[in-house]
Amino acid sequence: MALIKAALLGFGTVGQGVYEALKTHREQLKAVLGEEVVIEGILVKDGSKQRDVDEHVLVTTDFEEILQIEGLQIVFEAIVGEEPGFTYLSKALEKGCHVITANKVMFARHGRTLLDKAEKLERFVGFEATTAGGTPIIRSIAQLLQVNEIHSVEAILNGTSNYILTNMREKGLPFQDVLKRAQELGYAEADPASDIEGHDAFFKLMILSELSFGETPEWKDVERKGITDVTSEQIAVFKDWGFKVKHLARIRRDRDQFISSVKPVLVDAAHPLYGVEDVQNAIMVETSLAGKVTVQGAGAGKLPTASAMVEDLTYVLQSNSTFARKKKIAPFAAGSLAEEADRTLVGEYAVIGSSVGFHGTDGVDILKQEVKDDLVYLLIKCQASTAELLEENPDLVVYEVAGKVKEAWVQSEKKDLLLQKVINL
Ligand SMILES: NC(=O)c1ccc[n+]([C@@H]2O[C@H](COP(=O)([O-])OP(=O)(O)OC[C@H]3O[C@@H](n4cnc5c(N)ncnc54)[C@H](OP(=O)(O)O)[C@@H]3O)[C@@H](O)[C@H]2O)c1
Repeated sequence: MALIKAALLGFGTVGQGVYEALKTHREQLKAVLGEEVVIEGILVKDGSKQRDVDEHVLVTTDFEEILQIEGLQIVFEAIVGEEPGFTYLSKALEKGCHVITANKVMFARHGRTLLDKAEKLERFVGFEATTAGGTPIIRSIAQLLQVNEIHSVEAILNGTSNYILTNMREKGLPFQDVLKRAQELGYAEADPASDIEGHDAFFKLMILSELSFGETPEWKDVERKGITDVTSEQIAVFKDWGFKVKHLARIRRDRDQFISSVKPVLVDAAHPLYGVEDVQNAIMVETSLAGKVTVQGAGAGKLPTASAMVEDLTYVLQSNSTFARKKKIAPFAAGSLAEEADRTLVGEYAVIGSSVGFHGTDGVDILKQEVKDDLVYLLIKCQASTAELLEENPDLVVYEVAGKVKEAWVQSEKKDLLLQKVINL
């Protein structure tokens, strides 16, 4: 039987998962592909560590040795950071290999370059594992894009943050205690900053944006906030009001602008991501024909992530083609409505401050209010944007209620009439 020769760049959690999956599912892969997939080489950083691999496997710290493997067809990449992953995968494509990566930091920055290069060289770049681990979200969006337009993406993309928020709510524990538990269980890294500050979810959102819309917003324009300021007291009040705090990554293309954020928001039971708990990830895409489509599953972990990479392998070897992706949409012509109007956000927000009051202000309804531990909690329905509120009252904590806040496009001259000072401290 012919062999499909593959190499692994990185032999940590994910690399070992791919090695194991190829071995434990050897028969299934042979049945599907008609050929056996064999790892011939593994690239690592520390050449002195013992690796539990078959004798014939070349373990090296020199990437050139990997490239020289005769008949190498597939390169799996599971190392960390933008470089050297990007350079290695570029070289592997030039050498004629298909490449499959789990590296979201690298792919968020260089994905388009790699995909363009692969297209020219008639090679394939698999990146299912970069976003939401074992869920088939990349493949699902690529499939939907054959006919549908994607209007928006809304997702829980970081299992660690979701685990922490779920356990703070269910057990009434403070953030630091739940984080410690997550680290003991292996859900959070020793340095959890990327997860709890929202960077990890941000990179995944940018990958989904590139796939869905053919481009990303300017990274600096995406509002990014982690979960470190969410308190168990806030969670308890919102729970009584029927809300859960969820860390959502969201993007929508409206007129010629992207509206995107990665931040904690409130969701009620009617929201499709309300029931997504613990380390689970879920992604909801709103499409032109199929309506709302939600995919949920394990967002990380050795075998779910390896599963995504091995699925990419079977896809390329069976179809010999790359995923469909959206090409960049032309910007709106000058003088469009979007240029003449300002976007403002109207809808429901929870507002917390030491002394928050509304004095007969037009356009603001107080839906709920509560005083707890010297803090005033208000649920308001208002016409002014949160940005304006925060600018005027930087000490307030504001949570958007997901699904209850809508964009309103206001002609500039009318804007001053709509935006009123609604909060008096
Ligand atoms: N863990 C997950 O559940 C998960 C899920 C989805 C995506 N990912 C992504 O997958 C990638 C790998 O994650 P991981 O959890 O497997 O990481 P990990 O356990 O830290 O393993 C990283 C591996 O890469 C090797 N490596 C690091 N820098 C290298 C370099 N410059 N040259 C060659 N090898 C190098 C390391 O070599 P040594 O063994 O010699 O140190 C190690 O084998 C990351 O980009 C991560 O974001 C991870």
